Amino acid sequence: MGRVIAVANQKGGVGKTTTAINLASSLAAAEVNTLLIDCDPQANASSGLGFVKDPERISTYHLLSGVAGIEQAIQTSELEQLWLVPSHKNLIGANIELVEAERREFRLRDALEPFRERFQFIVLDCPPALDLLTLNALVAADSVLIPMQAEYFALEGISELLDTIERIRVALNPTLSVEGVVLTMLDERTNLAQQVMAELKRFFGDRLCESTIPRNIRLAEAPSHGKPVLLYDVRSRGAESYIRLAKEIISHGLPVQQETTPAEISETEAPIPVPAEAVETPVVVMNDSSGGEPAIPAPDEELDKTA
Ligand SMILES: Nc1ncnc2c1ncn2[C@@H]1O[C@H](COP(=O)(O)OP(=O)(O)O)[C@@H](O)[C@H]1O
Ligand SMILES: [Mg+2]
Repeated sequence: MGRVIAVANQKGGVGKTTTAINLASSLAAAEVNTLLIDCDPQANASSGLGFVKDPERISTYHLLSGVAGIEQAIQTSELEQLWLVPSHKNLIGANIELVEAERREFRLRDALEPFRERFQFIVLDCPPALDLLTLNALVAADSVLIPMQAEYFALEGISELLDTIERIRVALNPTLSVEGVVLTMLDERTNLAQQVMAELKRFFGDRLCESTIPRNIRLAEAPSHGKPVLLYDVRSRGAESYIRLAKEIISHGLPVQQETTPAEISETEAPIPVPAEAVETPVVVMNDSSGGEPAIPAPDEELDKTA
């Protein structure tokens, strides 16, 4: 069962999207099938991976409004094991339209449910608000990764986010946990950064990630080239820091299904560029012993075999 991680903080400009893109691509580079879902109408995670605005393209909006599923919305990326569900500014409308809708907080969770088996990580890039979009992400997620800047008022607003997480845990998603707090745009040499880091360590304890993300110009440049930083400048400190963060998150426990290692999975699971028809037939392909492209195991197949 894949792990769904929401990258959330209602403050804007703290490095959510940079973290979502580069964590997801570093996970994919570690040979772990990863899906990034852009849940922000600003669509920065989409454009940062080279998806320019296209109102015709199926996006997170269609997912939440229920007119399309993941299999129609999913896009391949330059990285073999990274897929994207892009966003579009029409997602702003979902915030309003969903207010009256049935299971309005569960829309994303429901859409993801049949696909959780197919990815080891699903990363959700949230908008800078505690709105219905972020709520959908937190209800769909197993854990929340909170990017924070090491600045004087870093903790301001955090209690509101932690309260929201707690309320969601009580009412809507009892197993939601905090994956970690990651410091972004860090200038480690400054006294202020050191003081703030010490304070955050006291406040968050083990939940403060050991990996920190330095302020690094390559991280800021990469999106304008439509690339994650590891395809833009893999030797940069920014790329290294997100590769470390991905390893740290994998070390929290790699969600592995059917007792395969990530390397084996990359060989036995076909990538997902699934046109709608293909989704109907994975069992047929799996059962074909004459070789050919292996398909992603259908969710219940192994169970059936062992039953
Ligand atoms: N570690 C970093 N070093 C340099 N610039 C960064 C870094 N992280 C983010 N940025 C830049 O800061 C701005 C805000 O980051 P972003 O990830 O979009 O934040 P959010 O999604 O929380 O609004 C962007 O212009 C981004 O390129
Ligand atoms: Mg963002």
